[in-house]
Amino acid sequence: MRPDLRARATAERELMDAADADPAMLERTYERFRLVNAIVSRPGAVYRRDVRPRARRRRIRVLDVGAGGGDLCRALTGRLRRDGVDADVTALDLDPRAVAWARAHDDGAGVVYRCAPVSELVAGGEGFDIVLSNHLLHHLGEAELRRFLADTRRLVAPGGLVAHHDIARSRLAYAAFAAATLPFAGTLLRGSFIRPDGLTSIRRSYTAAELSAAAQPGWSVRRGFPARLELRWERDDGDH
Ligand SMILES: C[S@@+](CC[C@H](N)C(=O)[O-])C[C@H]1O[C@@H](n2cnc3c(N)ncnc32)[C@H](O)[C@@H]1O
Repeated sequence: MRPDLRARATAERELMDAADADPAMLERTYERFRLVNAIVSRPGAVYRRDVRPRARRRRIRVLDVGAGGGDLCRALTGRLRRDGVDADVTALDLDPRAVAWARAHDDGAGVVYRCAPVSELVAGGEGFDIVLSNHLLHHLGEAELRRFLADTRRLVAPGGLVAHHDIARSRLAYAAFAAATLPFAGTLLRGSFIRPDGLTSIRRSYTAAELSAAAQPGWSVRRGFPARLELRWERDDGDH
C-alpha cells in the first residue's frame, strides 16, 4: 500500500502507545530504539555541536523529553563522562511503562528518570541548559505542539538551547524506511513495534514547512540527513 503523505495521518496511532500493547513487544521496542537511534538520530553530532560546547562552561543540566527507553540519555552521560564533564541528565516521559523500563536499564549511567508532563516542570520553576527531544513532535497535534514548544522554551536557562529532532514526512522517507526495515522484520526487529510504528510515525510527522508555520518567531527549522528535522531555539540573555 502507498499511503497518501500529502497531509499528516493524525488519526493513525502508534501500536506502542496503546494501553493494552503487548508488554513483551513493548520492552523489545524500547530495547531496539537504541539500534534505530544509532543509525538515524546521529547522537554523536548532537553531542559535539550542542552539548559539549555548553558543558565546558559549567555543570550542565540536560532534559530529554519523551526519552522512551532512555538510550540517548545513557549515550550522552557516557560521552560526558569520557570527556570528564559534570552533568545532570534527566529522561522524562509521559508513559510510566517507558520510565520503568528505562530506569531498570540505567546500567550505572546515573540518568534521572521521571514520569511527568513538561508543564509540571514549568510549574515547578525548573530550569535546564539544554532541552532535547527525539521522535516526539510527531506524537503531538498542532495545538499540543504550540503548547509544548512554549513550555520547553520556558524551561531553558539563559544561554541555553532547545532542540527537538524528528523525522520529516515524505514519500522518500516512507519508502526508504519500508525498504530498509523489511529484510530485518523477521530477525533484528522481530517481536517489536519498530517497523509498523516507524511507518506510522513517518505518516504522522511534520514537514519542515508545517513546523515553521506552527512555531513562533525565534524558532528555526533545519533539515538533516536522512529525512531529519530539527526545530531549535537558543535563548539569549534578553529573552523571556
Ligand atoms: C517514538 S518514542 C521515542 C523515544 C526516544 N526519544 C527515542 O528517540 O528513542 C516517543 C516517546 O515520547 C513519549 N511521549 C509522547 N508524548 C509525550 C509528551 N507530551 N511528553 C513526554 N513524553 C511524551 C512516548 O511515551 C514515547 O516514549
